[in-house]
Amino acid sequence: MALGGERIGARAEKMNGVSGSVSVDRGRRSTRPARRADLSVRAEWERLSAEIQACRKCPLGDFRTQAVVYRGGLAPRVLFVGEAPGAEEDRLGLPFVGRSGRILDSGIASLGLSPKSFGVLNVLKCRPPGNRFDVRAARTCRPYLDRQLELLRPEVIVTLGARALCAVDPSAPPVLRAAGRPLRDGIPRLFPLVHPAAALRSRRLAKRWEHDLAALGRWLKKRSA
Ligand code: URA
Repeated sequence: MALGGERIGARAEKMNGVSGSVSVDRGRRSTRPARRADLSVRAEWERLSAEIQACRKCPLGDFRTQAVVYRGGLAPRVLFVGEAPGAEEDRLGLPFVGRSGRILDSGIASLGLSPKSFGVLNVLKCRPPGNRFDVRAARTCRPYLDRQLELLRPEVIVTLGARALCAVDPSAPPVLRAAGRPLRDGIPRLFPLVHPAAALRSRRLAKRWEHDLAALGRWLKKRSA
């Protein structure tokens, strides 16, 4: 069943970082394909989240405190895709809740996105030891990411950093060349950014983060006009 304009009065889902009831505005999302009924999306999302949380398909499962699935609305306009959980994310079970999360959140606030209109997740669902991105684990995790994208159906994917960009689009140019502009047509659109942690590393990258974020804001505004 296609959804449109209606609000399903489901209570805020406390588990898995899902915020608020599911609400889709058909007018604003005219570029999105029809999606199935909210309740079945929600049920399937919960099944998938439980599966990820129980996952032992790769060695990272032995090191994590918990898998980190998602935070945000279940029908996000914009989906931010990061690389892997860090120590705080592993402890709290939510993506981007540490230092780079604070930078990301203030960037999201500057875009004026409401809590239900965005979502945040990672390519890797478990924290890699030493925070070293694990390419093999990313291959194992890939079906989870695909499934999440299929259920969330964002209008725009914003990748954060090189690993996320490469995972979402292996043929993309290097991140410093690609960041700050839409990368391709189609649904969902892809708009790469440098990783927010880069803003902690140098003034030059902090400026790049701010600059590209502003470009994303202008682009999103133009798309919703
Ligand atoms: N925290 C996350 O959840 N993902 C990152 O990529 C970095 C920090």
